[in-house]
This record gives sequence, C-alpha cells and structure tokens, in this order.
Amino acid sequence: MSPVDGSARVVRGSVLTYRDDPAIVGADRAVHFLRRGAVAVDGDGRIAWRGPAGRLPERFRSLPDDDHGECLVLPGFIDAHLHFPQYRMLAAPGTDLLDWLNRFTYREESRYASPVHARAAAEHFLDRLVQHGTTAALVFSSVHPGAAEALFTSAQARRLAIVSGKTMMDRNAPEALRDDPVAGVRDSVSLMERWHRRGRLRYAITVRFAVTSTEAQLRAAGELAAAHPDCHVHSHLSESEEEIALVRRLFPVAKDYTDVYDRFGLLGPRSVFAHGIHLTERECARLHETQSVVVHCPTANTFLGSGLFDAGHVGRPDRSVAFGIGSDVGGGTSYSMLRTMGEAYKVAMLCGRMPTAHDLFHLATRGNAARLGLGDEIGTIESGRWADLVVLDPTATPVLEDRHALSEGLEDTLFALAILGDDRAVRATYVAGRRAWDATSGTS
Ligand code: GUN
Ligand code: ZN
Repeated sequence: MSPVDGSARVVRGSVLTYRDDPAIVGADRAVHFLRRGAVAVDGDGRIAWRGPAGRLPERFRSLPDDDHGECLVLPGFIDAHLHFPQYRMLAAPGTDLLDWLNRFTYREESRYASPVHARAAAEHFLDRLVQHGTTAALVFSSVHPGAAEALFTSAQARRLAIVSGKTMMDRNAPEALRDDPVAGVRDSVSLMERWHRRGRLRYAITVRFAVTSTEAQLRAAGELAAAHPDCHVHSHLSESEEEIALVRRLFPVAKDYTDVYDRFGLLGPRSVFAHGIHLTERECARLHETQSVVVHCPTANTFLGSGLFDAGHVGRPDRSVAFGIGSDVGGGTSYSMLRTMGEAYKVAMLCGRMPTAHDLFHLATRGNAARLGLGDEIGTIESGRWADLVVLDPTATPVLEDRHALSEGLEDTLFALAILGDDRAVRATYVAGRRAWDATSGTS
C-alpha cells in the first residue's frame, strides 16, 4: 500500500469524540459532538485543531479538504487483541478452544516460518485492519521472529500504531511452532531493540498462554518484562473451562490460572490478557491490585463456545479489573469493531446488562487507548493526538438506511451502527492524517 496523499489536510463531517468514560460521568459530560465539525491535521499527521467547520482558522483554509457531509468522523478504532497469523482462518470451527487450536490454528501458523509468506500476509492483514476502520492494535504474531519482523516492517511503512511481538511457546504445540526459553528471549530482545518505540510501534513480550510455556520459559519472560517495564506483556487468560482444567493439571502448585502468571512476574499495568471470562473473586482482586488489563473478545467467545464475559463481575467497582475490547481474529469472526461492539452488546444482555452505544464506542476508542497505555497518543480527537480517524456512513446499506430514517438522534444512530454495521459502513480511514482507505476509490 502507498498512502494516497500527504498528511496536512482538513477532514469535515459530524465529529464525535469522548472526553471521559460515559459509564462513569454520564453521556452529557463524556460526549463531544459537532454536527458540522472539522479536524485540521498538521504535516506530521497530528491533529492541529478541532472545532465547528464554520470557525476553521484561516491558516488551515488552503489545505486539501475532505468533506464527508453527514457522515460521522470518529477516532480510528483500536483493536485490543487479534492474531496476525490467523488473518485468513476466520470461521474455522472447533468443538472448543483446544480443539480449534490443534485442528486448524497451529497448522496455519506453521506457514509463517516462511518470511516470504509472512511478508505477503502482513500486507493483507494490515489492509483488512484499515478497511475496517482500525488504526491501532495489540497483535499476536507467530513464534517465528521473521513473522513479527514482517508485521513491524509493514506497519512502519503505513505509520500504523501496532503493538506486537514474537510469540513464545515451548511445549504442547507442534515441533514447528516451538522455541525454547533461551531462543525465545534472544529473539524477543533482538526484535525489541529494533522496533520498540520506533515510529508508532511498541513491543509486547508475548507468551501464548500458560499451556504452551514451560516454567523455565515463563520465568524467562517475567525476567524480560522486569528488565523492560516500558514494553507490554500480552497473553491469554481464563478463556475456556477445558483450558482452565488443563492449566490446573500443568501447574498444580498455582492457586489458579492468574496465579501462574503472577508467580513469574507477568502481571502489571502493561500486562494485557485476552478473555478473562471465568475469573474467580481472588483472580479479579489480584488483577485489580496489579492494574493488569483483560480484553473482552465477544465474537470469539460465542463462536468457540467459551462462555459469556460478564462485565458486571469483572468491572465490579470495589475491585474492578480494567477491560478493553478486541476482535480476536481468527478465533473471532470479524475484523469489524462495529460487529465486535454488537456482539458485546448481546453478550451483556445475556448477562443481564444493557450497555449504551456510547459505552461501546467509547470502549473501542478512548477506552482501548487507555487500556493499552496509549491514551496520550490516540483514542480521541484532540490537538496533539495522532490524526487516526474513521469515517462512518450511517446509511451505508439498505438496512442501515431504512433504520436511519427512524433514528432518534446520535446515540440511536450509533446503536444501529453497532448492531447492523460492518466494514460496509466505513467510508474512509485516516492513519496519521493520510487516507489509508477510501471506500469509493478502494484505496488501500
Ligand atoms: N489461547 C491460546 N492461543 C489462542 C488463540 O490463538 N486464540 C484464542 N482465542 N485463544 C488462545
Ligand atoms: Zn487470542
């Protein structure tokens, strides 16, 4: 992909961003909405100004101007958990998580031993992200250092905010997907030195899950995390009952699944764990204490039959565990953060909760940015933040158009997009001010 143009520009439309969490302070205080708004982007790709289009300062008036009319202009979506080497294996059925891993996933990931395959796949994967309006993500790669290298290289060229790392896994997986504790750390350090904080990229020390690492590897990963507190830790936790039972057998001394990671120093404010569906009180309290983060991945949880993430339980105010939202492609069934929000709504309803559209859109933008420690860089439309923007058309499909005719206002429009929308609703995506995707020209 080559960017279609430079960064400095004006983007017009109905501009929506969140100042705060609507679930905490209420929508009136959290939502910032300008029906005919404008965002001015500087030559570096950062937001220089945001305000009513009619008050655009003189100095921006000669810039290229993209007018998206009635469409919504939001901060680009942030996907807090998905898998690059699973980019084309969505919709692979399994009786449960472990069956799905053994039957399809490991076989597909083995292909990433080839740097040629990985380089081509990285382009396809990142194309999918921007086509779906996603401009930043925390991404699992495969065990192969060359695959992480390919992903970082492509993301750097596109100026995408990607947090990723080579996956460490040294047991309970096919030979072709196993490293060892020494090689795992050596390759991680070498990638970290090359890519961490280079441009918009960050490194995540990545342990697949407790099942696929020996104690020696978990210890080595914990030591690496202690030596590099600025890097993320990324793993999976408490996804399925079968997985939890297996972890109990593999680590009989640990109090529970969370304690396995805790014993090796893998909890902390930069530690992000996908799922966290079946967490006990003790685990929630410990995750809260260490400020660790979990990521709700609703389309994967329903698809693999793993269970229902109860945000009321996880987020209980006296010991709330911070959580984000992710697609978990390819266990998840869509790249679309709109679909992911829609599924999160349905899972919440099954748990007796009813999130608002603002809760969901906040989570996929400002909320996820905060969960990933990137809140000063992305997630809102404010001066100084990167100009990562998604433009959504609330009338993109015939069904959305019919529904939009009944819309009772902004929140209702957002709700319809979350329940009925997908990539067809994404009219354009801007990454650091450059148009990375345009639905009309198909640029990507
Ligand atoms: N647990 C360990 N590996 C995986 C994976 O690839 N996907 C999901 N959903 N869970 C996992
Ligand atoms: Zn995952």
